[in-house]
Amino acid sequence: MNKIFKSFKASPKYSIKWSNYFDIYEDLFQKFLKKKITIVEVGIGDGGSLFMWKNFFGKYAKIIGIELNPKAKNLEKKGFKIFNGDQSNPDFWKNFYKKIGKIDILIDDGGHTNLQQITTLVESINFIKPGGMIIIEDTHTSFMRDKGFKNPSKFSLINFTTLLIENIHRRNPMLKKEINFFSRKIQSIEYYDSIVVINISKNKLTKSKNLENNVKLRNLFDDFRYKKEKNINNYKEENIFINFIKQTVSKRSYLYRIYENSVIKKYIKQLKD
Ligand SMILES: C[S@@+](CC[C@H](N)C(=O)[O-])C[C@H]1O[C@@H](n2cnc3c(N)ncnc32)[C@H](O)[C@@H]1O
Repeated sequence: MNKIFKSFKASPKYSIKWSNYFDIYEDLFQKFLKKKITIVEVGIGDGGSLFMWKNFFGKYAKIIGIELNPKAKNLEKKGFKIFNGDQSNPDFWKNFYKKIGKIDILIDDGGHTNLQQITTLVESINFIKPGGMIIIEDTHTSFMRDKGFKNPSKFSLINFTTLLIENIHRRNPMLKKEINFFSRKIQSIEYYDSIVVINISKNKLTKSKNLENNVKLRNLFDDFRYKKEKNINNYKEENIFINFIKQTVSKRSYLYRIYENSVIKKYIKQLKD
């Protein structure tokens, strides 16, 4: 049993987490253990997970909870700082960070709607310390229509993060795109079953450079990317499947070669049989 799962079991209050989360957290959080860090959890229910974080991270960690239900304030008697508010309200976040300052880890286990998750993410990015992270739990809601989630949709949290993926790639000059707020902050994004992790960079990120060593040797190797591909013109033209591939998929592409080597050949064999 890993340490975080033991902390979950040992919590004196009710908590609810998916079983796969514990191994992910055990790996993600190693670098923060016994450090003087601030962790914020959005959506704290009865407080069970707050006790879990405290037990797991150790006495130097400051644990803050954010909750829509005003009764959660009672947990302040147990040593947690609690903010009553709505995670989908940008003004709530502005006031929150004005009071608290920068934090190390944000865990979003609130209402899980697109608006709540995206607002929380966007309003928090600027307030995560270098090397910190934003963790969004229960991202399977991006694929759920029922219970009011109205997904899959182009406005889901998962689809929003794919825009962030493009923003990360803007650091590569080959894209000839301006880097923006997200490109400068987000080092990487990790996807798990129902968890998305946004890793905030230790440094301000800038455009990547293409570095070469042994420049004199540059032209001495044979770059096979530019070799003429074996073409598939030998196959019968009336095969519309081949024509489709020929017309729509670049000859240099991996997909073209895969089709050429396996699918098309099998397809033709079937036709002959
Ligand atoms: C699944 S429970 C949290 C469980 C807790 N994190 C745990 O692991 O035991 C979700 C909580 O999010 C709160 N919540 C829902 N919508 C919210 C919102 N818009 N802002 C803040 N909290 C919200 C609910 O009141 C509820 O207590």
